[in-house]
Amino acid sequence: MASRVIPVDPFDLVIFGGTGDLARRKILPALYRRFVAGQIEGDVRVIGAARTDMDAAGYREMVGALLAETCAAEADAATLQAFLAMLDYVTIDARGSKGWDELAAKLRADRIRAFYFSVAPVLFADLAERLQRHGLSDGDARIVVEKPFGRDLASARDLNRGLAAHFDETQIYRIDHYLGKETVQNLMAIRFGNVLFEPLWNSQYVDHIQITVAEAGGVGGRGEYYDQTGAMRDMVQNHLMQLLCLIAMEPPAKFGPDAVRDEKLKVIRALDPVDASEVVRGQYAASGDIPGYTSEVGRPDTTTESFVALRTHVSNWRWAGTPFYLRTGKRLRERASEIAVVFKDAPHSIFGAEAGRHRNILTIRLQPNEGIELGVTIKEPGPGGMRLIDVPLDMTFAEALGPEEADFPDAYERLIMDVIRGNQTLFMRGDEVEAAWGWTDPVIAGWDRSGERPLAYAPGTSGPDEALRLMTRDGRRWREIRP
Ligand code: BG6
Repeated sequence: MASRVIPVDPFDLVIFGGTGDLARRKILPALYRRFVAGQIEGDVRVIGAARTDMDAAGYREMVGALLAETCAAEADAATLQAFLAMLDYVTIDARGSKGWDELAAKLRADRIRAFYFSVAPVLFADLAERLQRHGLSDGDARIVVEKPFGRDLASARDLNRGLAAHFDETQIYRIDHYLGKETVQNLMAIRFGNVLFEPLWNSQYVDHIQITVAEAGGVGGRGEYYDQTGAMRDMVQNHLMQLLCLIAMEPPAKFGPDAVRDEKLKVIRALDPVDASEVVRGQYAASGDIPGYTSEVGRPDTTTESFVALRTHVSNWRWAGTPFYLRTGKRLRERASEIAVVFKDAPHSIFGAEAGRHRNILTIRLQPNEGIELGVTIKEPGPGGMRLIDVPLDMTFAEALGPEEADFPDAYERLIMDVIRGNQTLFMRGDEVEAAWGWTDPVIAGWDRSGERPLAYAPGTSGPDEALRLMTRDGRRWREIRP
């Protein structure tokens, strides 16, 4: 079962910040892999644009060394050379005039032109303005912007306004890389491609939903950025919110950009405000050789959170009464992300008390070991009465599809190809981002007002004990964080 690769139309892609960290780690390797897979072919140009003084040969050398190191096993030297031949470079000043005429002269108006803003958000509006001034915003032009898209509602509005002055919303691709993950798209396939689940997908049958995105690593080299951001802004406002939307939304009429994004927006707008008693924030402490958060970021007094757990409700007919529990954090037990839909108990147990309490749980494992698992209750084999046990109907994609098919492309590969294809379905619309900030802002403001420190938790655990209590007081339990 070989997956189909349909080549995209020829395009010019300009990467602002083309020598930066994201370009090196994600964008260039993603383009290279799509080239190796045969999805990018023909007269395509990838133009790095950055402040660094460099020429095209220098850029090719830089990217060649990078790909030889990170993607060596993926293709032979001739393929790498063919990819490098597509690269060009312009030294540019995002806020000045240097490089813009040269860039404009390199681009052709009669083909797809994508501009990737892999730069700090303060430069978004400047870049958009200069692109328009140089006649580069018309026709098949589109821009790609990365998170963080603002740090609150006001700044997100400013960014939206800055872009909207020069580009139409249909030209703006706001990346949330979680939407590019294969298993996240599978969430929609599972819900809307099967008749089995949808009739049960509501508060009549679902007791609660839990979403966990746990990371084992700490903040690493991103301490400065992270400390100004925290888990709520870094993960909850975007990635967890998107997962919650896909789980909770109504079936869109079709799998198209506005149909899907309209439904997601309705979910965010239906979210109850989070009360202080429904949210727990934590910060990892030191343990043995592992440094604590404060020393990793070099700020002993910082109150930035590296962990958040919260409970919320989607106040609409489908979900009234079903709580959604979200948690995410760094330096937790494992790197493991999953969504668990926990169904209610059977209305009446014909097997009596000795059979115990059993529940169906549908688990969508996002990473690692992507797959879905449905816990069902069966009779414990053997004589000796009617005892019940829960067993998983496990579909690990690598086993079901074969290792090659389940070797999912990186989210950026999918998303960049969608930009070229002009498909915005897996990108966030401006109003969606603003609504998400509108929901997280009051929680963050409450923390700022209180001045309280986040609760300490030991590395390698499930976070602060209070996060466990968030569920136990409701008579529920978090699932174990395990790969
Ligand atoms: C990023 C956050 O958006 O997502 C990081 O800024 C986080 O802090 C990362 O580590 C997690 O992504 P993934 O794909 O590894 O789950």
